Amino acid sequence: MTTENLDVVLPDDRVKAGTVKHMFGRIAGRYDLMNRLMTFGRDRAWHREVVRRAALPVGGRLLDIGSGTGGIVWAALEQDFGLSAVAADFTFEMMAAGRAQHGCRAIQWCGADALALPFGGNTFDAVTSGYLIRNVVDIRQAFTEQMRVVRPGGKVVCLDTSPPPPGLLQPFINIYLQTIIPLAGRLISGDRYAYRYLPESTRHFHTPAELEVIMQAVGLQKTSYRRLMHRTVVILQGTKPGATPP
Ligand SMILES: C[S@@+](CC[C@H](N)C(=O)[O-])C[C@H]1O[C@@H](n2cnc3c(N)ncnc32)[C@H](O)[C@@H]1O
Repeated sequence: MTTENLDVVLPDDRVKAGTVKHMFGRIAGRYDLMNRLMTFGRDRAWHREVVRRAALPVGGRLLDIGSGTGGIVWAALEQDFGLSAVAADFTFEMMAAGRAQHGCRAIQWCGADALALPFGGNTFDAVTSGYLIRNVVDIRQAFTEQMRVVRPGGKVVCLDTSPPPPGLLQPFINIYLQTIIPLAGRLISGDRYAYRYLPESTRHFHTPAELEVIMQAVGLQKTSYRRLMHRTVVILQGTKPGATPP
């Protein structure tokens, strides 16, 4: 598909990775501003909540995959500057925008595909992701990789959007997602496609309960989730079985 073919907003799995990478490459410079506006300024609080749920030890090792401009890693470093923090993504433009903001002394930026992580097993105390899982071709493989690289007892924490649930607010949420976000996105980022892809991919995405089942299927235990923003955003977490070091 091409980005001009706006009637077919969701890419086929065969071209999804390339489409997603190019899309984030185009909007990287305006990504954080759009996120702040779309979430009414809540994006940073949600990143902090992801970090809190990751339960990192002091001076621990964090991998944030699909890190984009590094918002989650930066929220973690604000709490503990002794962390060893890796921000990994397959879109270099997003990481470049993040480096311009946060620098590279505290954050190790790393080009990586979430479906084949270039790290050994049991390497990190926690693995986090923000709005990654909706964008990958194989969700189960992405969680399998996160489960592999986190240490036994470590947490996998995932922030993403959720399909708007039925209810009184649904018509308003739909207007917001399908009209206001695409219009604002077009005006601010100048990209006709990206902010139509966001609501469409959210509408067709798994429910939190379905994602939790996938997390359990790869072996994560003690899974749970919390819904936010009128249940259109979710934070899921799970723990890799095994010993928790002292
Ligand atoms: C919506 S942005 C999220 C950025 C950041 N995590 C946040 O919370 O704002 C999604 C990011 O996931 C990255 N991404 C999507 N699929 C990926 C994959 N298979 N491997 C690595 N990164 C991926 C994109 O390049 C993009 O930077």
